[in-house]
Amino acid sequence: MSKILITENVLRDAHQSLHATRMLTADMLPIAAKLNAVGFWSVESWGGATFDSCIRFLNEDPWERIRQLKKAIPNTPHQMLLRGQSILGYRHYADDVVEKCVERMAINGVDVFRVFDALNDPRNFMVPMRAVKKSGKHAQAAISYTVSPVHTIESYAKLAKSLADMGADSICIKDMASLLSPYTAYDLVKAIKKAVDLPVHVHSHSTTGMSVATLVKAVEAGAEMIDTSISSMSMGPSHSPTESLVEIFKGTEYDTGLDMNLLLEIAAYFRDVVRPKYEQFESSFSGADTRILKAAIPGGMLSNLESQLRQQKAFDKLDEVLKENARVCKDFGYP
Ligand code: CO
Repeated sequence: MSKILITENVLRDAHQSLHATRMLTADMLPIAAKLNAVGFWSVESWGGATFDSCIRFLNEDPWERIRQLKKAIPNTPHQMLLRGQSILGYRHYADDVVEKCVERMAINGVDVFRVFDALNDPRNFMVPMRAVKKSGKHAQAAISYTVSPVHTIESYAKLAKSLADMGADSICIKDMASLLSPYTAYDLVKAIKKAVDLPVHVHSHSTTGMSVATLVKAVEAGAEMIDTSISSMSMGPSHSPTESLVEIFKGTEYDTGLDMNLLLEIAAYFRDVVRPKYEQFESSFSGADTRILKAAIPGGMLSNLESQLRQQKAFDKLDEVLKENARVCKDFGYP
């Protein structure tokens, strides 16, 4: 084993999960130089709901955001979340649109493309994966993890194999709804490692309270990369705290080698300057909410869901919505 590589997701998934994706580029740039100096494997800075949110809510040009962040964080690879054939939208797009978008994303600054499909259908990976490979950038294929009577470790390992056959440079286990328990993570990483000869990256939200233990067991099973969020933007529907994982692995064979003092300065910036500004969007799912073990709502959807319920004056229905989601999932045959 060698040192564990960290992807810091404070600029994308952390605020997508905690604050309905509302963080402005202007609040990211002042801390960019410090993020650049840490030595993260990558910094997740684009994709997911950020594109939509820039246009719909923030009056920002998302392309200008990635160019500015790339300039301000030049020495760390920039990572984005790409929704496969749906690119950054909510339906499938034509192949030529996918190809052109990936080409422009690569030119504008994206270095690592984490490609996923919500249905785990290999056909929806083919065009985007081919486009990423053509751009010469890192193609990380993500398996969306869930728990159901039809999802097994064998089925995930088989999917990993077909994604490897498409040319994936690494495989991500995307535990968006915080359902991956530590011991299952251990077995799953082992099974994927047996199926493919590729680095494994684990993305596990903290909503249900299991994520720190999950990451530790995944690393013990051989995962090379993990996603974390700087502590002041961690936990709840977000991710495990960066500094905590750095400290956990310190002095072991997995030591990340990252500078704790620098991380503490970054944590202070988000705690004191950024987070208070976005209080109105703050998710009510702080701490651990084990209703999500059944409801299986992704962390990155929770604060948006809450915000939408509030807009419809239906926030009091939240608990019923969570219960309904589990029922709908079953009615649709566990997609
Ligand atoms: Co996520």
